[in-house]
Amino acid sequence: MTSELQVQNTALEHAAIDVVIMAAGKGTRMKSRLPKVLHPLAGRPLLLHVLDTAQALQARQAVVITGHGATEVEAACAMATRATAQLVISFVRQEPQLGTGHAVQQAVPALADDGVVLVLSGDVPLTAPATLRQLLAASAGNQLALLTLEMAEPSGYGRIVRSASGIVQAIVEQKDATPAQRAITEIYSGIMAVPAIQLKRWLARLDNHNAQGEYYLTDIVKFAVADGVPVVAHKIDDAVQVAGVNSPVQLAQLERAYQLQQAHHLMEEGVRLADPARIDVRGVLQCAHDVTIDVNCVFEGQVSLGEGVSIGANCVIANAVIEAGAVIHPFTHIDGETLGVTVGAGSLVGPFARLRPGARLGADVHIGNFVEVKNSTLAAGAKANHLAYLGDATVGERVNFGAGSITANYDGANKHRTTIEADVHVGSNCVLVAPITLGAGGTVGGGSTLTKDTPSGALSVARGKQVSIANWSRPQKAPKAPTV
Ligand code: UD1
Ligand code: MG
Repeated sequence: MTSELQVQNTALEHAAIDVVIMAAGKGTRMKSRLPKVLHPLAGRPLLLHVLDTAQALQARQAVVITGHGATEVEAACAMATRATAQLVISFVRQEPQLGTGHAVQQAVPALADDGVVLVLSGDVPLTAPATLRQLLAASAGNQLALLTLEMAEPSGYGRIVRSASGIVQAIVEQKDATPAQRAITEIYSGIMAVPAIQLKRWLARLDNHNAQGEYYLTDIVKFAVADGVPVVAHKIDDAVQVAGVNSPVQLAQLERAYQLQQAHHLMEEGVRLADPARIDVRGVLQCAHDVTIDVNCVFEGQVSLGEGVSIGANCVIANAVIEAGAVIHPFTHIDGETLGVTVGAGSLVGPFARLRPGARLGADVHIGNFVEVKNSTLAAGAKANHLAYLGDATVGERVNFGAGSITANYDGANKHRTTIEADVHVGSNCVLVAPITLGAGGTVGGGSTLTKDTPSGALSVARGKQVSIANWSRPQKAPKAPTV
């Protein structure tokens, strides 16, 4: 029994996926100079979420149709995908914009006959790859598959018109629909999978004889029906997956939906979130077991949290590796940018600490309130607990860096390094003028400004000697005249 299904599945397995992304529209309601598809969701332009989806599907290529803000959109894509580019992306321009059918017509020269075309929109960022795989399976490489949805308020959408026996006949746009058709609650999501060879034939037959004078992509449904090509509707019930962004309100709604999804994924991995509604992940957050995260934390870029890490409330952490058992107290800002930041196992950071690019903390390091660390290595057990700056420094094991002390690393033109060897104790309010090396086990007296290397084991003091003048009388104020 070589069933039809088996034949279809074989066809599907072999059909390459060519993703076409419509992104030429203006996005008037965003009221923004930035093209709509470049507005960020979770810190990443909407269009790049759609390209990520194409990549997840291992599409053979993605053809992006641009129009409004085309140069900006193309440049942003090229820049943002450069690092990870496994997907072949090309752009075609649609000038002027005469409708969704006209948009896809522009992509025809880029489409080979042997593929299945998956039509997506640059402003619909949250479609799950699994849903699209199901849609592609429904198309089976030789049928027209539409992603549809039941909507209590279908106004504005294309309606799925079915025959009495339930077979899809057409999509009718809101403005062209009869009152009876407007009562249909099954809508077309804007996403379809269609064999390229058929798509090309149908696109050539489109006209703009409709209420909006546009070339409707949705008209291909009636051509498929006329040609005897099966049209299948793959109905889903998760509206977020097909929701588009037309306004700042809708963008914010999708942002919250996306963040809640991230929060749920994290909790499924065992992360304890104080409140899943109060976390933002703008990038990739990897967590080992027994991580706890308090409210209002933002994670950006690549962040990894080791086993048992605890993140206090109101922390912003970007591009950093926090190793097992470390505690990040509230209001700490960590940003590794391109260099990264490492916080060693068991370290304590914050509250109100700032770790900048190239901060590398070993195990059990303590960084306290109002301490800034940049491009510096702190070996195991080193401490800077209050009001300090460590920039371009190499700090040995168990060093204690006193309150108010700083490395003066910048001479106005160049940056210089400070080396503090193991077990040095730097008193409060010291200025270490780099380049400088403090020998192991030494002590620096509080208030010292050091410009020369210090020997190991010595007490080094560099400040005005204390003098006391006995019986010193301060100037006195003249007595006030009595008021009458
Ligand atoms: C379209 C569908 C409708 C469906 C709805 C789902 C058509 C005719 N109608 O409606 O059935 O329910 O999506 O949201 O397809 N675009 C271009 N060039 C154009 C026109 C549009 O690139 O000339 C892009 C837009 O930027 C957008 C996407 O295509 O990303 C959809 O366009 P939009 O105007 O939002 O869709 P509708 O026509 O409202
Ligand atoms: Mg439209």
